[in-house]
Amino acid sequence: MILTKLHLENFKKYTSYDIEFGEGLIGIIGKNGSGKSTIFEAILFALFGEAKKRGNKDLLRNAGASAKDAVVVELEFEFEDALYKVIREFRGKAMSANAKLLKNGEVTTTGAKEVTTAITKLTGMGKDAFMHTLFASQKELASLSTLKNEERKKMIRRLLGLEKIDFVEKELVEKSRELGREIKAFAEVLLSDEDIKAKQELIKQNKEKKHLLVKDEQNKTKELISLKDKESVIKKELDVFVKTKELKQKLYAGLELISSNKSIELINQAKLIAENYELEHKQEELNSLANVKKEYLGLQEDLKKQEGLKEKHLKREGLQKEQVQLRERYSQAKADIHKLEKECELHEQYSFDAKNLEQDLSIRQDGIEAKHTIEQEILIERASEQRIIDETNAKIQSLEELGSESECPTCTRPLLEEYDKVINSLNSIVQGTHQKKIDEYNTQLKNVQEQKAKLIEQRKVKEKEFQELSKNLNIITSKLQDLQKAKEHFKEIELKGLKNKDELKELEVFKYDASVHEKLQKNNDVLTPKYKHILSLETELKRHKAVKIDLAKVNENIEKLTKEHQEKELEFQKVVYDENAHKQKVVQHEQALKSVEEQTETIHDIKVEVTRIDGDVKNTQSSLDNNEEQLKKVQTKKDDLQDYEKIKTSLAEFKTRLNSKVAPRISTIASDMYSRITKGKYQHIEVSNDFDFFIYDEGKKYPIERFSGGEIDLANLVLRIAISKTLTELSGASSIGFLAFDEVFGSQDESRRMEILEAFHTIKEQYRQIFLISHEMEIKEMFERLVEL
Ligand SMILES: Nc1ncnc2c1ncn2[C@@H]1O[C@H](COP(=O)(O)OP(=O)(O)OP(=O)(O)O)[C@@H](O)[C@H]1O
Ligand SMILES: [Mg+2]
Repeated sequence: MILTKLHLENFKKYTSYDIEFGEGLIGIIGKNGSGKSTIFEAILFALFGEAKKRGNKDLLRNAGASAKDAVVVELEFEFEDALYKVIREFRGKAMSANAKLLKNGEVTTTGAKEVTTAITKLTGMGKDAFMHTLFASQKELASLSTLKNEERKKMIRRLLGLEKIDFVEKELVEKSRELGREIKAFAEVLLSDEDIKAKQELIKQNKEKKHLLVKDEQNKTKELISLKDKESVIKKELDVFVKTKELKQKLYAGLELISSNKSIELINQAKLIAENYELEHKQEELNSLANVKKEYLGLQEDLKKQEGLKEKHLKREGLQKEQVQLRERYSQAKADIHKLEKECELHEQYSFDAKNLEQDLSIRQDGIEAKHTIEQEILIERASEQRIIDETNAKIQSLEELGSESECPTCTRPLLEEYDKVINSLNSIVQGTHQKKIDEYNTQLKNVQEQKAKLIEQRKVKEKEFQELSKNLNIITSKLQDLQKAKEHFKEIELKGLKNKDELKELEVFKYDASVHEKLQKNNDVLTPKYKHILSLETELKRHKAVKIDLAKVNENIEKLTKEHQEKELEFQKVVYDENAHKQKVVQHEQALKSVEEQTETIHDIKVEVTRIDGDVKNTQSSLDNNEEQLKKVQTKKDDLQDYEKIKTSLAEFKTRLNSKVAPRISTIASDMYSRITKGKYQHIEVSNDFDFFIYDEGKKYPIERFSGGEIDLANLVLRIAISKTLTELSGASSIGFLAFDEVFGSQDESRRMEILEAFHTIKEQYRQIFLISHEMEIKEMFERLVEL
């Protein structure tokens, strides 16, 4: 594989950049940060779709570019006589990736993942293999120099791909241990051979036992069927007995019922005959007492008449007594009226006087009120005069306070010489006019008040008089009411007396003789018990007709029942039932039932036993099956374990073989280069099978730590070149024609740098392109081609 062209757009620091690589030892030289490593990142990205370091795609876009600008990497390379071009780009904010692979100008593959797969398939190398074989990154070379022995060994193993085998080996050991543990655990729960044999024997015995029991059950079942048949025959016979017995009992019960009904009817018949006989006798007796009844009823009529007469006689006596009392009350009432009339004589006079007094009081009241009105008017007038005096006095006082400078109370002009005149005039008005009037009013007031007091006194006397008169008038009024009542009472007595008189006249015609009445009562006392007896006979004889009807009915019933009884008796005789034979049949049936039950129970027991045996066999068998299953599992695990062991051995062999082939080859290549670069100072670098390496000095072997920093760096570099070369040889990819080393010179001094370059010259025939990246500007001339950044 030869890289021919690279085109970059907006890839990291490059906005737009094109390189043509050419062949031979190619130097990519530039200062720190000039973009050297970026070029190989771009190549890696073009081939495998990822930058050296995975990460945010955004970091790949040039810082100055906008989201609209596409990031584009185009790499052209030759491979097996064909020209390939891979184009990768991503655009937009989402950085959606797109890729194309062209072979000799024609698109063969599209899509980011598809292009990566196609390139891996074409070159036979993934990204890791590519990095380990063709491209030693700046970081990797730097860490080779700084790593400790063990870590360096690890890194070499990783570069050689042995790390993966180590991992698989470790996994196998772990898995084998786990399987071992599981197998051990299984072994503890598995059955021993003796256990298995014992269980198998148990199953066999149980099956034999079951076979015998099943046979026995079949025989017993047959017997049971015949026992059941027998029992059912006996049962049928027994049923006939039971039915006959029931019929006989039913008929007997019928007979009993008829007999009992008949005896009840016979008792009734006897009772009715006796009653009828007695009633006939009573009828005869009643007939003989017909005259007594007639006599008694006549007597009752007479007695009734006497009672009426007696009642009227008693009423007359009562009225006569009442008349005597009425007469007394009559005279008393008359006297009362007379007395009250006298007492009420003054009523008219008193009423007249009261009216007059009332009028008099009213006139006097009017007089008092008139005087009172005059009195009030004088008081008002007098007060008004007094007010004028007070006001005038106030004016005089204010004039006196100001003296002759004061103003006229009417015209407001200053008084001066008029002052005394005005004071005097005002005083004379007060004393002359108004005080005089007040004195007059006082005299009038005195007169009026005296007249008013006189009138009030007189009114008091008249009022007392009127009260006295009113009291007497009230008494007489109440007596008048009494008089009215007394008169009404008198009238009542008078009317009652007249009424009684009329009634007494009416009663005079009725004559009552107590001796006649008494005689009749005595006769009644004799006849009454006899009549009562007649009544009781009549009551009893009311039933006679009913008794006769009942007797006829009873006779009829007795006849009917006698007939029924005879018929039933015949029926009963016809039914034949042997009680002893029945009893024997019952015993026979019970025995048959017992036999059936016993047989059923025996069969049931056998069945239970068979089920139990089945359960036992099933359990034992399932334990054996389970054991078998576990055994199979264990066997699988054992097989797995064996396989693992085989793989482990093969891997170990493979590793030993690989190491024994790889280590000496690395050793040879590295020794050759190291000796050449050190101009024969150190002739040999030995790489042991587990990738410890030693340097020979003067034929003596030393561990790497014994040498100087620069010598160690150099040793590491040749080792790395040797690894790349060995890997290229191992992969058989002779057509992969380039090698690239980022910052190979590290700590080397100038002469050593030259030696390193020379060393690369020595291997240059084996590669069509060797890229060496460096920031050392002085070595520019040492390259066949140069890319200066
Ligand atoms: N997306 C980006 N846009 C612009 N510049 C970037 C971007 N990504 C990285 N850079 C810058 O690109 C420069 C180039 O880095 P690179 O690793 O290629 O340098 P170098 O030449 O290998 O340097 P050294 O000799 O130190 O290894 C760095 O200064 C880095 O900051
Ligand atoms: Mg760099």
